[in-house]
Amino acid sequence: MRARVTAHARYAVADIDKRLYGSFLEHLGRAVYTGIYEPDHPSADASGMRQDVIDLVRELDTPICRYPGGNFVSAYNWEDGIGPKEDRPTRLDLAWKSLENNHVGIHEYADWADKAGIEMMLAVNLGSRGLDEARSFVEYVNHPGGSYWSDLRRKNGREDPWAVKTWCLGNEMDGPWQVGHKTAREYGQLANETAKALRAFDSDLELIVCGSSHSDMPTYPQWEATVLEESYDNIDHISLHMYFENYEKNTANFLALPEKLDRYIGTVSGVIDFVKGKKRSKKDVKISFDEWNVWYHTRKKDQLYLEGKDWQYWPPILEDVYNFEDVLQVGCILNTFIRRSDRVRIACIAQLVNVIAPIMTQPGGPAWRQTIYYPFKLASHHGRGTALQLDVDCPTYDADMAAGVSYLDIAGVHDGDAGSVTFFAINRNGSEPLEVELSLERFGTPKSASHTLIRHDDLEATNTMEAPDTVVPQEGSGAKIDGSTLSMTLPPYSYSMIKVE
Ligand code: AHR
Repeated sequence: MRARVTAHARYAVADIDKRLYGSFLEHLGRAVYTGIYEPDHPSADASGMRQDVIDLVRELDTPICRYPGGNFVSAYNWEDGIGPKEDRPTRLDLAWKSLENNHVGIHEYADWADKAGIEMMLAVNLGSRGLDEARSFVEYVNHPGGSYWSDLRRKNGREDPWAVKTWCLGNEMDGPWQVGHKTAREYGQLANETAKALRAFDSDLELIVCGSSHSDMPTYPQWEATVLEESYDNIDHISLHMYFENYEKNTANFLALPEKLDRYIGTVSGVIDFVKGKKRSKKDVKISFDEWNVWYHTRKKDQLYLEGKDWQYWPPILEDVYNFEDVLQVGCILNTFIRRSDRVRIACIAQLVNVIAPIMTQPGGPAWRQTIYYPFKLASHHGRGTALQLDVDCPTYDADMAAGVSYLDIAGVHDGDAGSVTFFAINRNGSEPLEVELSLERFGTPKSASHTLIRHDDLEATNTMEAPDTVVPQEGSGAKIDGSTLSMTLPPYSYSMIKVE
């Protein structure tokens, strides 16, 4: 099978915001406790944070991390997580049927983020609480001193404010499962009033309102229209979420789901433009795709825990073990964000450690990289620069979700400073290799092309504690450069990164 692609240095989509490679940590299952925080672990530092996990997070190079939820935030009292640990209350977390001792709060998370080289993105509770809690939290986190909340922070050991710029106004408020769920009108008004109050404190904050939890929600996309009508002037981004499932074990259908993601981004972009037009606004609200990943491997099993009568500390829920097929999917999802980087400025893989995550840990034992760690790491390291508008001509197939799905999923990024162009390419055909001829226009004379390949004969192959290196990137041999023509051979069902320098 053959494909032709053209890349031109002047045909750009946008300069990619590095926050496209963001991540997410929620007080959920073992993400925080025995994930990033385990005081008794042999690698734990003086504040109880696992150094082995920090090392893997640093290697991943995710620039920003959303915290503390997720559904958890909608019944969370941030004040429970400050002051001496022995005085912090144990609460019932209604979202995940868990006991929460609050030993990790804003101070511990901020220290961890600093050690991991990560910017914080914080969420406020607009479910069980509201504007007042939000303004106190922002004052505690961002005000230098001389006020009640900022002085309390200083008394609790942190002299300088953390200067957090990016704030989520609640989480998935369209979902009936959410504590304090609201109608679009109610939520839009609350988000707008909260945004106004936070802007009165600091007009430079970047504020994110909740869009839809997924594009099959009955309220989508009217939800976005109503929420934006209420809040457009005072916010910067609208948040979208989507999780990818393959219950039917149909790889062709599964790998076509990024078409649905692309449609979702396109529709919400249209709604943003509609509201912008109605308001005669000059401002462009952007999309923060702050929860995305494959999530289905453990969902049915976890339901039993969530429906039971048991309340546990950090139950091992949402611990999806990812396979090689998921590598292909994560590659296609990231490519979609790169191609849509004019609209999507922030995206967060959900989540970072243990809970639907690229990094897994064993309590008291090792930490390791799941299969999906690798496509994320490659994109985060090499997918920074200018996203290219590629012309792609490739045979297609029809799937349940969309007709005419290209067997080749490809995105290109030009790093003008480094003088390199990087392509991320997935062959969605399981039976034939793809011979790709790629014409590079106006990039100068390329000297070399390197090929990094992720492939396994078994789509179900996983990385486990016992065999952590089953699915790893290898050096590929499928890329050649001749003048300004790049030729590459992509094996059936494979992920490739080709870097031209
Ligand atoms: O990431 C897991 C959960 O998925 C989050 O708590 C929620 O926002 C979403 O439904």
